[in-house]
Amino acid sequence: MELTLGDFAWLARERLDPGVWDFIEGGAGEEHTLAANLEAFDRVRLRPSVLRGAVRPETATKILGRTWDLPVAIAPLAYHNLAHPLGELGTVQGVTAAAGVPIVVSTFAGRTFEELAEAGGVPLWLQVYCMRDRSITEGLIERAARAGVEALVLTVDAPHLGRRARDLRNGFRLPAGIVPANLDGDGFATPAEHAAAEFAPDLDWSVVGWLRSISPLPILLKGILTDADAVRAADAGADGIVVSNHGGRQLDGVPATLEVLPEVAAAVGGRLPILLDGGVRRGRDVLAALALGADAVLLGRPVLHGLAVGGAEGVTRVLDIVRVELTDAMSLAGIRAIADVGPELVRPAPPAV
Ligand code: FNR
Repeated sequence: MELTLGDFAWLARERLDPGVWDFIEGGAGEEHTLAANLEAFDRVRLRPSVLRGAVRPETATKILGRTWDLPVAIAPLAYHNLAHPLGELGTVQGVTAAAGVPIVVSTFAGRTFEELAEAGGVPLWLQVYCMRDRSITEGLIERAARAGVEALVLTVDAPHLGRRARDLRNGFRLPAGIVPANLDGDGFATPAEHAAAEFAPDLDWSVVGWLRSISPLPILLKGILTDADAVRAADAGADGIVVSNHGGRQLDGVPATLEVLPEVAAAVGGRLPILLDGGVRRGRDVLAALALGADAVLLGRPVLHGLAVGGAEGVTRVLDIVRVELTDAMSLAGIRAIADVGPELVRPAPPAV
């Protein structure tokens, strides 16, 4: 029986084609940032508060006016059908069965927004890669909004996709039938090729105003790693940010997201909700991120592991594990509610070895 997200990763690796596994797991360059994301969470030490009476942890939280059952949403991940034939449909069904939390649907989703909206009962958000041809992006957003998508997450760390050595060595190509369900572009061998051909490589901060002019939906910027850019995001009118290094898949050598979170949170000073992704693998990682300044986290690769191992039910079990671990950690740390999580919960990280 799988008890941890690590168990799911192990089983997923056994099931998936090695090239697909490497595409999912891999990072850019020598994968230093990929490793750093995980190590940063490993180094956190918690400071529990004892004799707090009966603590029955309440994991619900409010983000952008909506109540989430857990401070955890699903990160945008291209082509869930690489992990399981159900693709994003399985993820939507699995998340709906586990918890009321948003799923950020990738521009490169393998299922249509309409199918996904019909299949589930959780909020869907759209991750946006802004294309050179803005009319493509505008069409994507319109279609998503018509299907009921509730927020836009503009990925800002990807003028092109990072150099991922595993994929280059493997000569990775998308298997037949894996195409973007909400875009016309089905003639690309890889997401990197698609990005090179179509992504706008020259975005600047005016893109936030442009998005605002074409859509009334809340806009979050995903891929913020510095205090200066967090302030620019707030000044540009973003409704939220995602502290992210794209799971170590873009610029290798940038810090772990958890490392930069305190400076970003200090700079933002509560003006915007802050989400964080990269390396969240346990319930206690959620607590650590919240203590260091995040309002919620996004879960990436573990969702695809759950899907690969057990389809929709696997995704449910992955989220269930996060919920059980989070509740357990809150109870043992003497924390009743998400709003009670503060910086006093973590000790300064011990130095890296
Ligand atoms: C991603 N990520 C991503 N991000 C994005 O904005 N649009 C996308 O289409 C994708 N696609 C994608 C595919 C795969 C296979 C992976 C692993 C990642 C990045 C993703 O949203 C997130 O930032 C990281 O995955 C978070 O790190 P963890 O939880 O995977 O460590």
